[in-house]
Amino acid sequence: MGKSLFTLSDLPAEEIVSIIDRAMMFCQGIDIPNFSDKIACNLFFEPSTRTQYSFNVAEVRLGMRVISFNPAASSLNKAESFYDTVKTFDSFGPDAIVIRHSENEYYKQLEGYINAAILNGGDGTGNHPTQSLLDLMTIKQEFGHFEGLKCVIAGDISHSRVAHTDYEVMRRLGMEVVTAGPDFFLEDSLKQEDFDSAVKTSDIVMMLRVQHERHASHMAMTAEEYHRAYGLTLEREKTMKDKAIIMHPAPVNRGVELADSLMECPRARIFKQMSNGVFVRMAVLERGVL
Ligand code: NCD
Repeated sequence: MGKSLFTLSDLPAEEIVSIIDRAMMFCQGIDIPNFSDKIACNLFFEPSTRTQYSFNVAEVRLGMRVISFNPAASSLNKAESFYDTVKTFDSFGPDAIVIRHSENEYYKQLEGYINAAILNGGDGTGNHPTQSLLDLMTIKQEFGHFEGLKCVIAGDISHSRVAHTDYEVMRRLGMEVVTAGPDFFLEDSLKQEDFDSAVKTSDIVMMLRVQHERHASHMAMTAEEYHRAYGLTLEREKTMKDKAIIMHPAPVNRGVELADSLMECPRARIFKQMSNGVFVRMAVLERGVL
């Protein structure tokens, strides 16, 4: 059975750091394995641009053959269950199955029943392990360490699997993590700080997308009002520390959580995060199929 990755909280800190170190080697073109005898299936039951296609690129860079699933053209339309769909792909004998699904902890029903390594590409509002790994890789490239750094995660915390995963793992690696945003997006169990003071004192300002598709009702606020109150505006960016960076898992609502022109400003690492996503996914695939 392959080595699955459901959550980062399942992994000790040393293993997380060793996956990032491996990704840094791949980033430099060092020691890239050849898995041309291996097959990956990408099963994205929820929309995805970055995670899906960077897994695809990672698989191609490792020489794997790739099967991509289109839920709209599948037997899901004949009421086939999620479990039976994954089990069907597993019966074809792939080495890795990458899954994204809207249900939190969807992987629990698969554990022990699937032979391929299951790599979690995001479960509902729960976990997004490869996104956090690429966030950590970006931070390590920038600062060389994690201990003592401060990160503010700001915006739609409650619907964000990225926030939930990053909060836990960053703290475990010795970082200070605070959350900020409107009360209706915050969670009591996570440390909170006033956004303006957090922007001034953080090494990493991580903005999150307002996830309208996961909201039960419309936000009682316009995009402009949200931007002024909780977005990283041009004025707020000026108050950031000299060496501080801007991150965002993307997709970005330009002009809402982030001023349009900050997307590619000198502090922004948003497209760097996407590049790093390929290398951490190569490392996670290698760990899964070896
Ligand atoms: C995030 C996700 O899907 O969890 N995107 C991503 O994977 N880079 C965040 C989001 O959709 O806002």
